[in-house]
Amino acid sequence: MQPGTDIKLAETLLRKGELVAIPTETVYGLAANAFDGDAVAKIYEVKKRPQFNPLIIHSDSLEKFESWNIKLSGDILKLAEKFSPGPITFVVKKSSHIPDIVTAGHTSVAIRIPRHPLTLQLLAQLDFPLAAPSANPSGFISPTTAWHVYEQLGLEIPYILDGGPCAVGIESTIISFVSETPQLLRLGGLSIEDIEHTLGKELDKTKLINNDDPLAPGMLSKHYAPTKKLYIGQVEDYLGHYKAEEIAAIHFAIADPFLPLKNQLILSPEASLNVAAQQLFAALRKADQMDVKLIVADAFPNHGLGYAINDRLKRAAFS
Ligand code: TXA
Ligand code: MG
Repeated sequence: MQPGTDIKLAETLLRKGELVAIPTETVYGLAANAFDGDAVAKIYEVKKRPQFNPLIIHSDSLEKFESWNIKLSGDILKLAEKFSPGPITFVVKKSSHIPDIVTAGHTSVAIRIPRHPLTLQLLAQLDFPLAAPSANPSGFISPTTAWHVYEQLGLEIPYILDGGPCAVGIESTIISFVSETPQLLRLGGLSIEDIEHTLGKELDKTKLINNDDPLAPGMLSKHYAPTKKLYIGQVEDYLGHYKAEEIAAIHFAIADPFLPLKNQLILSPEASLNVAAQQLFAALRKADQMDVKLIVADAFPNHGLGYAINDRLKRAAFS
């Protein structure tokens, strides 16, 4: 079925144990009733997601998470007060309400309140959380429009709730509160600077270094990948081996003088990292569909959302 805005239909399908794609401010999610193990199993099937990779559960209030016996520390309350609903996910101790298939057998669970009016309305009607990974086949670029979801999973899921283009465009920042010092598990749509400033302390970032560490099982080295080869660097370095027409470029703010303009995607002419993050995944898809042999992307400045953009590009480029 074509994407639409029928929240009631989304609710009915979810109650029946079906999958529904939902808009969030970060990326579209592929949602199922988190308390229904069979429904959650369908997520793994449709995404071809490895069974060891746990899912984030979504709801519309901290009170609901608490009612499912999930304990929230003072640090989490501090961050949630400022940034939830928003692009931040908290990893906390799991409660027995949450089926093991959601957490892939881990003793922790990832929770998040997404900031999108349609999805918040839907969640408010539900007395269960929604388990939802990004609504893309495992390993591929995350969807930031309903149409992106439709292109890849349209035939496999009964409904896509269309909430327009995602405002943030890059997945949530994930912080684990399972050990004493909060640990950064994934760079994302909320900057580290904002988080550390609010907490009044530094995050432990050692888990980001080893990408194949089982603590963040989904953060594999290769992810978010287009089908074409992607390189990070300067276009002119590839002109010796390829013709200008064979290269697509993803630039932060300024076009290069080497490629035809139609081969160049400028993420933010005003050089805003937030706008660039919002445009990134759509640009990767567009470049992938061009009649070229390779894609060259700029390295982005390392501050604010620039860290998360560079993280996604590195994984997309990994081979
Ligand atoms: O912005 C987002 O977070 C989007 C939207 C739909 O909410 N969701 C998303 O889900 O990006 P997914 O499944 O594509 O990525 C979730 C990441 C994975 O890397 C997974 O390994 C990690 O969260 N994760 C989930 N539960 C975890 C846990 N208990 N401990 C450590 N990492 C966990
Ligand atoms: Mg994903």
